[in-house]
Amino acid sequence: MATQHSQWRTGLALLVTCSCLHVCRSVTSKPNILIIFADDLGWSDVGFNDNTMRTPNIDKMAKEGVNMSSSYMNHVCSPSRAAFLTGKYPFKMGLQHSVFTALKNNSMPTDIKLLPEHLQELGYATHFVGKWHLGFCMKKMTPTQRGFDTFYGMYNGKGSFYTHISKWDGYDFHYDTGKEAADYKVEWAANGTYSTNLFSDKTIDILKNHNKTKPFFIMLSYQAVHGPLEAPDYYVNTTCAHITVDSKRKTKCGMAAAMDAGIGNVTSALDSLGFSDNLITLFVSDNGGPTKEGSSNWPLRGSKITLWEGGTRVVSILHSKKYLPNQPYQWGGMMHSIDWYPTLMKAAGYNKTITGIDGVDNWSPIVNNGTSKRTEFVYNINDVKNTSALRVGKYKLITKAGKPDGWSYQPANVTKLEPPSKYPDYLLFNIDADPSETTNLINTKSLKKTIRKMKRKLKKYRNKLVPTKEYDTINAGKPKNHGGAWVSGWCDA
Ligand SMILES: *[C@@H]1O[C@H](CO)[C@@H](O)[C@H](O)[C@H]1NC(C)=O
Ligand SMILES: *[C@@H]1O[C@H](CO)[C@@H](O)[C@H](O)[C@H]1NC(C)=O
Ligand SMILES: *[C@@H]1O[C@H](CO)[C@@H](O)[C@H](O)[C@H]1NC(C)=O
Ligand SMILES: *[C@@H]1O[C@H](CO)[C@@H](O)[C@H](O)[C@H]1NC(C)=O
Ligand SMILES: *[C@@H]1O[C@H](CO)[C@@H](O)[C@H](O)[C@H]1NC(C)=O
Ligand SMILES: *[C@@H]1O[C@H](CO)[C@@H](O)[C@H](O)[C@H]1NC(C)=O
Ligand SMILES: *[C@@H]1O[C@H](CO)[C@@H](O)[C@H](O)[C@H]1NC(C)=O
Ligand SMILES: *[C@@H]1O[C@H](CO)[C@@H](O)[C@H](O)[C@H]1NC(C)=O
Ligand SMILES: *[C@@H]1O[C@H](CO)[C@@H](O)[C@H](O)[C@H]1NC(C)=O
Ligand SMILES: *[C@@H]1O[C@H](CO)[C@@H](O)[C@H](O)[C@H]1NC(C)=O
Repeated sequence: MATQHSQWRTGLALLVTCSCLHVCRSVTSKPNILIIFADDLGWSDVGFNDNTMRTPNIDKMAKEGVNMSSSYMNHVCSPSRAAFLTGKYPFKMGLQHSVFTALKNNSMPTDIKLLPEHLQELGYATHFVGKWHLGFCMKKMTPTQRGFDTFYGMYNGKGSFYTHISKWDGYDFHYDTGKEAADYKVEWAANGTYSTNLFSDKTIDILKNHNKTKPFFIMLSYQAVHGPLEAPDYYVNTTCAHITVDSKRKTKCGMAAAMDAGIGNVTSALDSLGFSDNLITLFVSDNGGPTKEGSSNWPLRGSKITLWEGGTRVVSILHSKKYLPNQPYQWGGMMHSIDWYPTLMKAAGYNKTITGIDGVDNWSPIVNNGTSKRTEFVYNINDVKNTSALRVGKYKLITKAGKPDGWSYQPANVTKLEPPSKYPDYLLFNIDADPSETTNLINTKSLKKTIRKMKRKLKKYRNKLVPTKEYDTINAGKPKNHGGAWVSGWCDA
């Protein structure tokens, strides 16, 4: 009986498959998309930019894929992630200043269709694994109501990798499987396990259970290599044993090595489950490395939180056997966080122009190793700190870039660079010729016209600024009111 029943079911499934063969085929021909977000990974926190780092899987991806040398994100986490998912400049959403903090009702604008929401409409199964940090006090701000079928990870931006106690105190680890109240669950079982392993394993689990009639979009948003400096002992003391003097750098090396091992596990699973041929993978960091916490951005200047190149220009690798037929190559075209939304939509086969966003579709230039459609971008305009910077072609105009403003981890064999103690009102650098931002060209006579034009442009952008939003502190959100955990649903009107 049972056998007959299951035979009948198999027959039915086959029938259904056949009757929608045409539709199914056109759906499954869409690329599967895996985004691997590293957190706070510095330019030289990978092996291919610093040979003391141990990241063989990321290095391999860069060697085999499209290694982007001029790809930018924003200066810090929440603005960067918001820009990536909305395709809009943070300064046009009031999100330009800093990161989201717990107990505040901060969020991305709820009236913008996010990249995953758009992909769901194209038939994608969508999953978010890892650190969100984009608002959660109302359920409508959480990943499962912002375009992701499931969410496994942390709502907040910082916490222990093992205990998952947030920087703001309280347990922060979740497995949300839908939009209904019962779908929101605190994942107590994560307590004690390093988040890099949890996020890699969950991604593999999702792949194993994926119904291949749909394409997938997975955002694997690692907590690594953000502080606190925590990594499994093996990676620190064995893999990174060669780093002996600087203990912060040593632990950072261990964190990056552990993340790389997780990426290796995910890559193996993609291979063995047959996903590798129809896949697009993007590896990118959300911002530059924090140099006070053992990150190196050398030869780039500055740190996370600043608008120097070290805070904003990031390791970015796109890899696809099928969709990037000419890989490997280094692509020097200009790319910004806001461009990924339209670019990935095009990769997913969406041919219409997306309105209301600032990003440009660079898919064709990337695939063809051609000229970027982006010719200028705003690094940021911050109305609280008064920092701002604009790029037009090779030139970068800065009013104030912020601190730390030095060059971290300078090799012993270069002339030591020191930042000045005072700055003029404006700085100008030729980034093509001087990516380390050592030589201020603001007084160069032959560039007077260029400078005037750039100042005018920056002013025009500034006119579009939405003032930094201020948020109320809402004590109802305190974990002590919710069994010791950060949960959603305490600021609903
Ligand atoms: C990737 O490009 C960077 C420059 O942007 C370069 O330093 C690095 O060597 C390249 N990596 C590989 C693996 O080609
Ligand atoms: C946050 O709360 C304040 C007052 O409680 C309200 O004015 C504001 O609109 C809320 N912000 C968001 C994004 O919901
Ligand atoms: C996590 O596990 C440890 C060890 O069992 C325990 O002491 C701690 O209370 C747990 N944390 C939470 C938030 O339950
Ligand atoms: C996969 O999805 C198709 C289409 O929605 C459905 O008919 C089929 O039953 C699913 N397969 C499994 C194993 O869930
Ligand atoms: C790893 O190295 C740290 C720092 O040197 C040390 O405190 C720790 O005991 C080492 N762990 C093991 C298992 O050797
Ligand atoms: C990678 O997979 C191996 C084998 O299953 C496992 O022991 C290890 O913990 C995994 N590493 C990470 C970082 O997920
Ligand atoms: C990619 O374009 C660059 C710049 O135009 C060129 O130097 C390089 O040879 C090209 N590489 C490939 C593989 O097409
Ligand atoms: C998008 O345009 C390309 C090239 O013109 C075409 O091959 C593809 O079928 C179009 N995709 C959709 C979904 O219309
Ligand atoms: C920013 O500029 C305004 C107006 O010039 C000034 O009042 C304010 O003090 C400045 N803030 C900082 C942090 O420099
Ligand atoms: C400094 O040394 C590194 C190797 O340690 C080498 O790759 C680099 O080219 C050297 N730079 C200069 C300016 O000599």
